Amino acid sequence: MSDLPPTRRTVLMGAALAGAAGLGLTACSGGGGGSSAGPDKPVDLGSADAVPVGGVTYYRDEFLIVSRPSADEYKALWSRCTHQNCPLDKIEGTVGICPCHGSRFDVTNGKVLHGPASRPLSDVPVKVVGGKLIAGRDEKA
Ligand code: FES
Repeated sequence: MSDLPPTRRTVLMGAALAGAAGLGLTACSGGGGGSSAGPDKPVDLGSADAVPVGGVTYYRDEFLIVSRPSADEYKALWSRCTHQNCPLDKIEGTVGICPCHGSRFDVTNGKVLHGPASRPLSDVPVKVVGGKLIAGRDEKA
């Protein structure tokens, strides 16, 4: 059902988001993130159902990480490290790891777990339109 070929994304089915449901996250959430980094224009990530409830999907080609704490809640983060802009290369559970200098982030909320990065991953607005995830700031906004 997805418009995206499976090779464009990594679905981390086992990424449990313990406690994430209690964060009160919603689509287009502004909580937790830092700067305004993100795609230049809205990006169609394909079927919203590609993100498992309670899991995380890494859209590597788009530098976006989307978590889904509950059936109708999504949170998107820009996957470029806030230290020196390297894209995260691995996600283990809910921990995103930067290959350049070892920073670690909680990919459910962007918070730094381990430096040298000191700022959280940036929030990216995300919404569901016609069953598809659209991430990024509206050009008119
Ligand atoms: Fe990520 Fe330095 S660029 S830790």
